[in-house]
Amino acid sequence: MRPLPEVPDLVVVHISDIHFKSSAGRVQDRNKDLRHELLLDLRRQRTHLRKFDAIVVTGDLAFAGKAAEFEIASKWLDVLREQLNIAEKNILVTPGNHDVDRDKVVASTGILGLHARIRACHGDALQSTFANVMSAEEGHQLFEAIAEFNTFALQYGCAVHRDQPFWERDFPLRDGAVLRIRGMTSICVSGWNDDTGANKMILGEIQYALTREPGVEYLTLAHHPPSWLLDQDGAEHYLNTRARIQLYGHKHEHWIEPAGQGIRVVAGAVHPERTESNWIPRYNVLVLNLEKHDNARFLEVIVYPRRWSTEQTCFIGDCDASHLPIRLYRFRIDDSPPSVASPRTDRVALEADEKRRLGYRLAMLAKDLQIRLAQRLELIGCDDLQTDASDFADALLRIAEERQRLGELFDLVEKYHGEINQRENPFAGLVKEEDKR
Ligand SMILES: [Fe+2]
Ligand SMILES: [Fe+2]
Repeated sequence: MRPLPEVPDLVVVHISDIHFKSSAGRVQDRNKDLRHELLLDLRRQRTHLRKFDAIVVTGDLAFAGKAAEFEIASKWLDVLREQLNIAEKNILVTPGNHDVDRDKVVASTGILGLHARIRACHGDALQSTFANVMSAEEGHQLFEAIAEFNTFALQYGCAVHRDQPFWERDFPLRDGAVLRIRGMTSICVSGWNDDTGANKMILGEIQYALTREPGVEYLTLAHHPPSWLLDQDGAEHYLNTRARIQLYGHKHEHWIEPAGQGIRVVAGAVHPERTESNWIPRYNVLVLNLEKHDNARFLEVIVYPRRWSTEQTCFIGDCDASHLPIRLYRFRIDDSPPSVASPRTDRVALEADEKRRLGYRLAMLAKDLQIRLAQRLELIGCDDLQTDASDFADALLRIAEERQRLGELFDLVEKYHGEINQRENPFAGLVKEEDKR
């Protein structure tokens, strides 16, 4: 087997379907040992791989979408990232059906009505209905049942809402190329009766039509694989032709297969239910390297599938038919490296993430607090007060950015959330730059 480069371009841990219950971590929790073994296995992997850059989670972090479950998930991810030396901003999460508080769905005739209206459509009507609902005020209802997930995901810049159902994060590869990770939301119509028959999920063209850019390779995350989607055909056509790596969860089964111009990986579950047939906890590590041979450029993707061994009571490599514990794929990509201007720099991507986070924090404040905040900063006139809280927050963010006052807005938003000085102001540097002029 050819040796790995001294230090790989990018090493990503892919975990899914952990299903934290509020009782997790107690002495009676049988899965506590599994999670500890997963950490030990990752430590062993690091000796070989040298580093980990990111942890991606394809949903079902919680069991019933409750705040206590996400608090446990957050603490566990903190331990994982600290022990593996991964930055908080490189924990990337997407919601699964168990991250939905389904009690909220059944209690709301509004949400149930939207689910039924979307699921009744097919083909182009499905896409236009979904896009119309998402652009209308009622579109907020599709995200009400993941409010606790969003509070949890916000700390990683991965909260999703009507105006931003997916997020993106850029990671540099060699010679100026970029791996862009897009986390998509597949649970907009999830409730108690999800199935692969009449009650499938939707991603929507607005999420899976990845924007092609020179020098950018896509890795996508979603909880539900295409077979669970109402818009399976569209999702597969777009993602198979535009994404190099598609990662999914949900099925509690594991497979890796070619898909169009790349590969599709279904994770398997970290914690499948013990009653499930073929109970095997699993996760994956992915290693990406950009290589050149005779002026041709290749993206090499190596997947290390890891599985629980009841024989050895630890995680081990899941070998293929050739007894190799890896799956190796090489994709030829554009011959010429991207121009220096095309990939987003880390700084720009980081600012976009922070701005998205600020917008979400602002929108979570009650309208009267938003108005008080706008008045204190003298950003909005009386004419603008009639809009709803979400549009008001959007307008406030836009005006604050135009007037280069995002730093002050950040401080006040954090103060109104009662969390001043909990986070360093990411816009403080920008404010100082302005002051210098
Ligand atoms: Fe699951
Ligand atoms: Fe699931």
